[in-house]
Amino acid sequence: MKSLNLNISFEQYAGIDELSDSERQLCALSEKALATSYSPYSKFRVGTAIRLATGEVVLGSNQENLAYPSGLCAERVALFSIGSTYPNAVIESMAITAQTDNFEILTPVTSCGGCLQVMAEFERKQSTPIEVIFYCLNGEILKVPSVKSLLPFAFVEDRLER
Ligand code: THU
Repeated sequence: MKSLNLNISFEQYAGIDELSDSERQLCALSEKALATSYSPYSKFRVGTAIRLATGEVVLGSNQENLAYPSGLCAERVALFSIGSTYPNAVIESMAITAQTDNFEILTPVTSCGGCLQVMAEFERKQSTPIEVIFYCLNGEILKVPSVKSLLPFAFVEDRLER
């Protein structure tokens, strides 16, 4: 038996002022994306802004449905939109934020496991890291240099190849 450890690197920022101009811009766009959230059931709005290597930014928001499992998270709405519109796009970075009228969110909202798995596959496909920023409007901000930091044990396709 061996006992192993993984180190995960991430950065923590006290507020948006500590970010670079382009990161601030991406966070502001993720906030803008909240406006299109369709979340009458959870009342929890999630927005994302994804910057491609071309400079283009694609927005996404969570889309719910009365048949609850049929809804989709903001991250996957935007990622699958990129996959279908720009199949060869390279993603540089993404910012994610959330809001609800029910309470004040004071810590960054991090992505669910299903979204992390999809983010991991986009990263693997393009072979360059995707930077992820979890932007909290009234609290600290987290930044990871790669999806690998968030899901080091992602399911990978070579498991299907035997
Ligand atoms: N949600 C996201 O959009 N992204 C996540 O990573 C986790 C959760 C959405 C799904 C649902 O519409 C609402 O947040 C409450 O779970």
